[in-house]
Amino acid sequence: MFSWQIEPIRQSDNDQMRRLAIHSWGSETMVVHDTVYNLTEQEGFLARSQAEIIGMLTYRMDASDRSELLSLDSFIENQGIGSALLDAYVHRVAAQGVDQIYLVTTNDNLRALAFYQKRGFTLSALHLHAVTRARKIKPEIPLYAENGIAIAHELELTRTIGEKLCVKCFSEN
Ligand SMILES: CC(C)(COP(=O)(O)OP(=O)(O)OC[C@H]1O[C@@H](n2cnc3c(N)ncnc32)[C@H](O)[C@@H]1OP(=O)(O)O)[C@@H](O)C(=O)NCCC(=O)NCCS
Repeated sequence: MFSWQIEPIRQSDNDQMRRLAIHSWGSETMVVHDTVYNLTEQEGFLARSQAEIIGMLTYRMDASDRSELLSLDSFIENQGIGSALLDAYVHRVAAQGVDQIYLVTTNDNLRALAFYQKRGFTLSALHLHAVTRARKIKPEIPLYAENGIAIAHELELTRTIGEKLCVKCFSEN
């Protein structure tokens, strides 16, 4: 059994985040809906076990009542880290007046599709060939996922923040 906690990203985390983003996503930039985002410049949360980052989530505010989850990575899966990061994010933006959050994932990412749908997100849009376009900007995006599915399209999922927030998971002191 190991212990870990969730904390907001700080400026001093940038170098470590850059390395982890390169490991997970091929570079520190993310191309979603034809827009480039540098993950190390975004707000978010880290899961940390002692000095080691074992999970990270980044997001941006869209309109005053909408926020986009840009990335979510758990480096030790099935221990509740992804859920705890998501809870921390939802609590943070809900407190800022956001009532709708959305994210983009790709057609191959069956695990993410299950994870988000089990946590209140609904499929809200399909952007055909968006990843094929993104690959022109970011050639590091692989053609195929590890499960053998060709990565080509973006799926958008949206969640309206309801009253069912997990209050035990995170508190920002
Ligand atoms: C999707 C992702 C973020 C999920 O992270 P995770 O840390 O594995 O998520 P959790 O541990 O909170 O939940 C995963 C499962 O583990 C289970 N779980 C949680 N704590 C557990 C524990 N202590 N023991 C056993 N199982 C546990 C959860 O019930 C959950 O199952 P469910 O979805 O059927 O309810 C992770 O797989 C990931 O980083 N994927 C690669 C990057 C990616 O695709 N990101 C999303 C695209 S934006």
